[in-house]
Amino acid sequence: MPPIPAPQTYRVKSFGCQMNVYDGERMGELLTEQGLSAAAEGADADLVVLNTCHIREKAVDRVYSDIGRLRREDGSVPLIAVAGCIAQAEGEEIMARAPSVKMVVGPQAYHRLPGMLAEAVAGRRAVDTDMPAESKFDVLPRRRRSGPSAFLTVQEGCDKFCTYCVVPYTRGAEISRPFADLVEEARRLVEAGAREITLLGQNVNAWAGEDEKGRAIGLDGLTRELAALPELARIRYTTSHPNDMTDGLIAAHAENPKLMPFLHLPVQSGSDRVLKAMNRSHTVDSYLKVLDRVRAARPDIALSGDFIVGFPGETEAEFAETLSLIDAAGYAQAFSFKYSPRPGTPAATMDGQIAPEVMDERLQRLQAAINRDQFAFNRASVGRTCDVLVERKGKLPGQWLGKSPWLQSVHFEADVAIGDIVSVELATAGPNSLGGRLLVPAHA
Ligand code: 5AD
Ligand code: SF4
Repeated sequence: MPPIPAPQTYRVKSFGCQMNVYDGERMGELLTEQGLSAAAEGADADLVVLNTCHIREKAVDRVYSDIGRLRREDGSVPLIAVAGCIAQAEGEEIMARAPSVKMVVGPQAYHRLPGMLAEAVAGRRAVDTDMPAESKFDVLPRRRRSGPSAFLTVQEGCDKFCTYCVVPYTRGAEISRPFADLVEEARRLVEAGAREITLLGQNVNAWAGEDEKGRAIGLDGLTRELAALPELARIRYTTSHPNDMTDGLIAAHAENPKLMPFLHLPVQSGSDRVLKAMNRSHTVDSYLKVLDRVRAARPDIALSGDFIVGFPGETEAEFAETLSLIDAAGYAQAFSFKYSPRPGTPAATMDGQIAPEVMDERLQRLQAAINRDQFAFNRASVGRTCDVLVERKGKLPGQWLGKSPWLQSVHFEADVAIGDIVSVELATAGPNSLGGRLLVPAHA
């Protein structure tokens, strides 16, 4: 391919999980450091980075159709880079299938984007899906910008090998970032305006490190340390594995007022046979016991989860057990998915793949149960007074949107600013959000 003019503007489009959102921000910072600027909303970009998700087939299809549709107003095709987990899993295939893609970069190699960009400008297509020994985090620029609610990747990769899941292959082995680096990045995010930090990891509660005195600490110790940052008001973490809910982390929910009363704890299925086939290494009973311990520490905790319907071999009776688990666990919200066979994972070749229409029907019933419980949780919140972190303007004039401690969206009318934390009485409940009344005038 011939040399091309160096791009001046970029857009990073992230799909999938919150870690991709984090990676997308970091790629943007890296490109900014290279002298590019973020394209304005709605304007053409010279370079488009598609930061992809491989977790389910639908996400993959969307990216290929996006690649085909990318055109600038004058009809030309921008410089396209594919990053994220599809890049990792299907790098060479993307290069072969989509000639308009000039760069493919995996989630552990995106700190090398500037070098690849130079290659692309010189007319050479480049693929980098290495899992290099050096850590991208050591090379990425310092954080300088943040909204009121920021993400911070503390742990990456997964060694659990659930039989349906691509993450151990696309994100690699479990690594914990060093304590000192995390405290430093959190400090910079707070300086840049973050009031809330969500600690991210595929197995975030398996994070392990050493504090400044060399003592072994877990996620509870990390949250304790971050709570010492005066301007940081809220700490969250996601996603946790039931087997890594340590006593210390559970106790932190009772002891650390900055740790928000919210727990995303995927269970996937309510059938012990299915859980075993999924290689989840917990049972329904052990999961419910974890919930009992968490609720003993923090009775008002809002529970979230992930579910997969139609895992190979799932019978109607086993699916009914999942519905019973929903009743027993009491979710404030949850995500649910149809099983999607992922190439290279053990479940993809298991006997008993479930017909799509059976999955559709089960998903509908599951979602009806989840929606019912979410609405009930919201209704039960009416009358409560809580802090709301103001995140953005609402649709109506004078309306603002923020989050309750239980991660509910709350809208209210008041004279406030983004980043304020205000005291709000929850007054009305909808299925997906609550309406509130400001109690105390917002502080300056
Ligand atoms: N099919 C459907 N859902 C999946 N998930 C992960 N892999 C698959 C798959 N192959 C879901 C799980 C996980 C969430 C992030 O995505 O519920 O917790
Ligand atoms: Fe995937 Fe299981 Fe690891 Fe979660 S714990 S990332 S579902 S393999």
